[in-house]
Amino acid sequence: MVSSNAKIVVLISGNGSNLQALIDDIVEQKIAAEIVAVVSNKANVFGLERAAQANIPHQVVNHKDFTTREEYDAQLHSVIAGFSPDLVVLAGFMRILTPWFVEQFTGKMLNIHPSLLPKYKGLDTHQRAIDAKDEEHGASVHFVTPELDGGPVVLQSKVPVFADETALQLASRVQEQERQMYPLVVRWFCQKRLLMLNNKAYLDGNEMPNTGYAAD
Ligand code: GRF
Repeated sequence: MVSSNAKIVVLISGNGSNLQALIDDIVEQKIAAEIVAVVSNKANVFGLERAAQANIPHQVVNHKDFTTREEYDAQLHSVIAGFSPDLVVLAGFMRILTPWFVEQFTGKMLNIHPSLLPKYKGLDTHQRAIDAKDEEHGASVHFVTPELDGGPVVLQSKVPVFADETALQLASRVQEQERQMYPLVVRWFCQKRLLMLNNKAYLDGNEMPNTGYAAD
């Protein structure tokens, strides 16, 4: 039996470096998938250009055109559902999602967050790690559940925090890790090795620890 490529919709809000990492691995056939659409909540962001360059259908669903979060999420859901994706990848998508929206894609939606979850949910994670004088920081890929940045972690990648470095410098080192780790997790999902069951992540049938797989 020939198995078909997984269909992925990627949601972005900005630069799209994680999107690019996915595009590159799909082109190099490291991931058996097709990005069927890129959707941004902001117009004119560089990630949309990356999609255009790769001939991927892309569109803006601008949150400013909607009065409530519920209305926005309903429209976003209808756009995404139109592509019947196997997986929705949040790649720098800077929106809080309603529980209703998240539940439409239970077990089929991944996010990357720039901290070692459960530390530093929300924004300004790099500065918060510096302010707390943490010795290490990093990023986490997790399944999305209604709790903000709270779904089961699949993979974490750590970097040391150097003395006197700025949040920008730290962010750039963390983002280098992100571009390695996110495609790997997407690959596991597309190979059907990774799934979420009862709010827990499983790889190859084994329940993953709270920190997911750790990588230095
Ligand atoms: C990444 O640092 C990601 O962890 C965070 O937003 C940033 C997006 O970067 N959620 P990019 O748009 O993929 O370049």
